Amino acid sequence: MFKGKRGLEVGCWMGWSACHVALAGVELDVIDPILEQPESFQSVRDSLKRAGVLSSVRLIPGYSPGKVEELAEQEQRRWAFIFIDGDHESPHPLNDAKACEPFAEDDALILFHDLVSPGVAEGLEYLKRKGWNVMIYHTMQIMGVAWRAMLNLLSIIQILVFFGRFLLIYAIFAEIWAEKPLRSISKLKLLQKVHKQNSIG
Ligand SMILES: C[S@@+](CC[C@H](N)C(=O)[O-])C[C@H]1O[C@@H](n2cnc3c(N)ncnc32)[C@H](O)[C@@H]1O
Repeated sequence: MFKGKRGLEVGCWMGWSACHVALAGVELDVIDPILEQPESFQSVRDSLKRAGVLSSVRLIPGYSPGKVEELAEQEQRRWAFIFIDGDHESPHPLNDAKACEPFAEDDALILFHDLVSPGVAEGLEYLKRKGWNVMIYHTMQIMGVAWRAMLNLLSIIQILVFFGRFLLIYAIFAEIWAEKPLRSISKLKLLQKVHKQNSIG
C-alpha cells in the first residue's frame, strides 16, 4: 500500500520498526535524538544495512516536533505514512500528532504505537477530534491508526457514481423497452384517426 511512498518515523530506538517499514518498500525519514550518539547511529545504520534497506532510510538525529516541522518546511516534505513512537509521556504524543498532521498527505495513514500509555492515546484522540477516522488494534502494546475522513467521502462519491451509472443504464433499458409499445400505440391511434377520416370522407 505504501510501497515507494515517503514515510516518517518518530522514534526508532534500535531501528527494529524502521527496518520493517523499509522492508515494506517505504522511503523512510527517521527522527530520534538517540541518533545524536555516534554508537547508536552506527548500530541502527548497521542493522539497516544488514537488512538491505539502508538506501531507503534516512537517519535524522533530533527531537520531534521541532525536527519534523524543520524537515517538512525545508524540504517541502509530505508523508504518506507516519509512525509516531517517540516520547510516550503526555503531552509529547499530542504534540507529535499536531506537528505531523499538516504534513500528512491527503490519503496518509498515521500509526501510533503503545496506546497502553494514556499520553499516546491523546495523540490519537486529537486526530479523531480533527475529523480523522481512527481504529485501535489490540496488539500487545495496542496500536492506533488514523486516516482522513476524505477516504469516506471518496467511498461516498464512488457509491454515487456507481448508482448513477446503474440508474442511467436502467433508464436506457426502460426507454428501449417502453419505446416499442409506445410507438405502436401512437401508430395505432394515428391509423385509427386516418381510417376514421377516410370513412367519413
Ligand atoms: C519506544 S522507542 C521506539 C521503538 C521503535 N519505534 C521500534 O519499534 O523499534 C521510543 C524512541 O523515541 C525516542 N524519542 C524520545 N523522545 C523523542 C522525540 N522528542 N522525538 C523523537 N524521538 C524521540 C527515544 O529516543 C526512543 O528511541
